Amino acid sequence: MIAATGIAEEILALKAERRAILLAHHYQEPEIQDLADAVGDSLELARKARDFEGGVIAFCGVRFMAETAKILNPERIVVVPDAEASCSLVESCPVEPIRAYRRRHPDHVIVSYINTSAEVKAESDILCTSRNAINVVRSIPSDKTILFLPDSNLGHYVKRETGRENMRIWQGLCIVHATWTSRRLAQALGEHPGALVAAHPECSRDVLAMADYIGSTSSIIDWCIRHPGREFVVMTESGVAHSLERLAPDKRFWFIPNENCNCSECPYMKRNTLEKLRDCLLRLEPRIELAPELMARARLPIDRMLALG
Ligand code: 13P
Ligand code: SF4
Repeated sequence: MIAATGIAEEILALKAERRAILLAHHYQEPEIQDLADAVGDSLELARKARDFEGGVIAFCGVRFMAETAKILNPERIVVVPDAEASCSLVESCPVEPIRAYRRRHPDHVIVSYINTSAEVKAESDILCTSRNAINVVRSIPSDKTILFLPDSNLGHYVKRETGRENMRIWQGLCIVHATWTSRRLAQALGEHPGALVAAHPECSRDVLAMADYIGSTSSIIDWCIRHPGREFVVMTESGVAHSLERLAPDKRFWFIPNENCNCSECPYMKRNTLEKLRDCLLRLEPRIELAPELMARARLPIDRMLALG
């Protein structure tokens, strides 16, 4: 077996040879984040992919993120370490019922979270991420009925924050964030009195009600670093600990173990490994392949979101 440092060197050499950019989500293993050209939340990574002008994008995240990068770069090669790295939200939202909804309600506005398949994106009017969902919903004329999909916790959070009445919400959930309970959070606060709570909006309403701050992964990191507090209970995937501990080594960050796995990890995100990353750069496989017509239709709602700034 090759030592991790050997693999890291191989990855860097392949990256240069392929004129590749390595994009990594905050939920990736630390050794992958350390090799990346950019680490970010789903909105930041979509922007990086849009602005890329090299040859190959190696996307270390989950498949819907890599598909978004491909839709923004139809002529470029986009590879992923593991093609099976999905997301429970994508899986909760097949395209057929969305097409049927569109036919029944042609005047409704479909706002899709970026955690959707390319097919669902193609049926959507505008996309959003956890960072900009409130602004996206505010950008839609108030007389229009919205279907927000697929994350129900994010949808209800946006509905509460915007006061939007005419908003229907799909019933998808994140298998990581939705499983943390307010009881477990209260227990953690009992163990760490005085700690502040930063939560991702995919968490349940009860958990969000206890949060001092709600935001995307990158926004949570920025907030914890800038806040004068010393201790934080962080209600998102524990991959963000890598940036938090590097940027604020004097602060303490606590994560809540999920009762199923006793960890705070996304099983889809954690399918990616350094070995698989090296192999995908070497073989240029697994590759994201989407029909040109599908990419053209899925691009419109992505561009509308990115144009909002
Ligand atoms: P971000 O928008 O914060 O990157 O979140 C994506 C995600 O999948 C959270 O579980
Ligand atoms: Fe999907 Fe949840 Fe994993 Fe994010 S943490 S990729 S929403 S399953």
